[in-house]
Amino acid sequence: MNHFEYKNNTLFCESVSVASIAEAVGTPFYLYSTATLRRHFEAFDGSFSDISHITCFAVKSCSNLSILRLFAGMGGGADIVSGGELFRALKAGVNPKRIVYSGVGKSEQELYLALKSEILLFNVESEQELLRLQKVASELGIKAQVSFRVNPDVDAKTHPYISTGLAMNKFGIPIKDAEEVYAQAEKMPDIDVCGVSCHIGSQLTEISPFVESFRKLKDFIGRLKKNNINISYLDFGGGLGIVYDAEEPPHPREYAKAIKLEMESLYKNGCNCTLILEPGRVIVGNAGILVTRVEYIKKGPVKKFVVVDAGMNDFARPSLYNAFHDIRPVERTERDHEMVDVVGPICETCDFLAKDQEVPVCNSGDLIAVMSAGAYGFSMASNYNSRPRAAEVLVNGDEFFVIRKRETYESLIAGEIIPDFLNPEK
Ligand code: LLP
Repeated sequence: MNHFEYKNNTLFCESVSVASIAEAVGTPFYLYSTATLRRHFEAFDGSFSDISHITCFAVKSCSNLSILRLFAGMGGGADIVSGGELFRALKAGVNPKRIVYSGVGKSEQELYLALKSEILLFNVESEQELLRLQKVASELGIKAQVSFRVNPDVDAKTHPYISTGLAMNKFGIPIKDAEEVYAQAEKMPDIDVCGVSCHIGSQLTEISPFVESFRKLKDFIGRLKKNNINISYLDFGGGLGIVYDAEEPPHPREYAKAIKLEMESLYKNGCNCTLILEPGRVIVGNAGILVTRVEYIKKGPVKKFVVVDAGMNDFARPSLYNAFHDIRPVERTERDHEMVDVVGPICETCDFLAKDQEVPVCNSGDLIAVMSAGAYGFSMASNYNSRPRAAEVLVNGDEFFVIRKRETYESLIAGEIIPDFLNPEK
């Protein structure tokens, strides 16, 4: 359920017409609904309310400060993967004791910053990272709370580019080798081993891979216990899928039910750990759209192209993963549908927002909405082809707020320096 609906055939976000926002801020822009964000966060977090848990929103999915602040205000933590995401989360007011840090390539400086910020948990992904963390922690005199990301070798049954829990993927430590790393970490003076973590992939539409990996984790936690290593946190990552087209992902309630059922045997065995979850897409995916205007209609010898003012630099998912996104007109009229490619202005053949897709017949000047663009939309945008990045707008009831200004040409070159030898006057 989201709050993007037609009223009198014009698309609204909550009580604000999308066309009125386009008029005020220009196109393209990302548009998020506060009511939908809140609702999705509550639906997810509330499904775990009867057990000890922390919902750490995956910052990478949508990293705008206002959105992070909204979730922080609802008791959410943050799952971060870089120093930049740490900076954002702290600026947005996320409690550092609710921040978990994942990722295979944490630099020394990033570890330093995260330690200084006293975050809750480092999800360490390799032995070398552990050694580096111990070194930085000892220099700072701050103990690092550590969880190892284990790789359970489970097929998430999703797009290969966003599958992370297979032996062939770069993520985590193979679960069969992980006991050794735990034993090693236990001996380190500045490492406090307190968790196990796992994230098997994104846009999962079935429960079974989650359950399969959870069972492997439980088995592993049992083995740790035998070695007298008791954990306080079980970080199960994110990954729950959403409806883009005709997918039928489990509702967060069903997902929670399956996980809580698995947790029971842990509790029975005396492991009263706190569950950490790192959802991204399931919270923001359907709470945001990308609004773009049709520039031209171009009939090629084989295909018809709807050329719009947003490109793969604004929204990379279709070109990167061949992802499907529903295309809707902002003003709905009686019109036929036709098979087209919706393409952007970028000089690449893979610059499309929709490919061979049935969309309502469009004309130059029409506003169209790319649906389900809230997750991995703006956060993956770039300046390719020297295109300023789009604005981001947040609706709350009958008001809208620009939460990120459209970039300007000046902002495109802000960090660039021409050395003197290229300057003929000097
Ligand atoms: N935790 C970790 C360690 C992750 O790597 C990710 C996503 C998440 C949590 C959140 O997963 P979610 O709940 O959003 O599925 N750009 C791709 C998705 C990449 C996901 C990367 N990791 C896309 O547009 O589909």
